[in-house]
Amino acid sequence: MTKTAIFARINKLISAFWMYIKQAQMYLFKKVSDLQKHLDKLRNGGSSIGLVPTMGALHEGHLSLIDMAKADNDIVVTSIFVNPTQFNQPEDLIKYPRTSAKDIEVLTIHGNDVLFMPAVEEVYPEGLNTKLDLDFEQLDKTMEGEFRPGHFDGMAQVVNRLGNIVQAHKMYFGQKDFQQYAIVQNMLKQLNSPIKLIMCPIIREEDGLALSSRNIRLKADIRQKATIIYQTLLKAKSLIKENNPELIKTMALNELLIKDFKPEYFEIVDGNTLLPIDDYKSSDFIIACTAVWAGDVRLIDNMILKQQKKIAPTF
Ligand code: PAJ
Repeated sequence: MTKTAIFARINKLISAFWMYIKQAQMYLFKKVSDLQKHLDKLRNGGSSIGLVPTMGALHEGHLSLIDMAKADNDIVVTSIFVNPTQFNQPEDLIKYPRTSAKDIEVLTIHGNDVLFMPAVEEVYPEGLNTKLDLDFEQLDKTMEGEFRPGHFDGMAQVVNRLGNIVQAHKMYFGQKDFQQYAIVQNMLKQLNSPIKLIMCPIIREEDGLALSSRNIRLKADIRQKATIIYQTLLKAKSLIKENNPELIKTMALNELLIKDFKPEYFEIVDGNTLLPIDDYKSSDFIIACTAVWAGDVRLIDNMILKQQKKIAPTF
């Protein structure tokens, strides 16, 4: 082996070791004050901060948000907080998967910089009014809003609180929860917030099922059949140009009505207003959104059916 080759190999080993050390270093904060002390120093030093809010039980979908945040910012803060105010059914909150030890390990290996994992009293301390008094107009009335009353108020409340605590430059949200993204965008606009919101694409299993923390609760046979949701969205996309949206909606609701499955809604809406569209030409941004009960697990998914590339959502 030549001298240069030996040097190159040593260099590679050193950088691999350095990467390992860097990845193995993650700060974990449970207290708002400790987190803020740490972040203040970094922010004052000129570091840009990206926030990825989650409720844990992390999967590749969450990690893709962290990857986008890492590419864009000096520091990535991921929060894990199962927010009680956004669960409209108490048993859903109890059943929500909690896998914090595994989450910490995954985040450390993935090179996340800071993990914020507060208790309820840290996020909602006594005497602090964290409730928002905002009107999201029709954005929180349709689809998820209709079937999960109060959910979006609680979601907006916690995202605003986390945003205020972290004072991030950017926040990363998945298209998987498109209506959530739309409402957060609208909230930031109403509050004149300087935080920039970034929407990240949906990560799917090989058969098309969108990754979700709830998927682990699917029984094996139901899990196998759950690809029907993606297939139905694809079919809607292939039909939208030539067919009436109402007709496609009826078709989709029928397709989703297989054994053990029960669709709650399937809507074809304008991506800016979240209101149903009349026909393909009436909007430049069309999205199909659905919620389906797969056994006792409620799954949501969506697909953009039409989007004029240069138009950003206005919400
Ligand atoms: P959670 O369901 O944990 O999701 C955290 C973020 O991950 C959300 O922005 C969600 O859209 C994104 N995500 C989930 N599955 C994804 C997938 N398959 N592909 C891409 N992104 C995906 O959404 C929440 O938590 C909460 O409502 C929260 C915003 C944290 C407020 O409590």
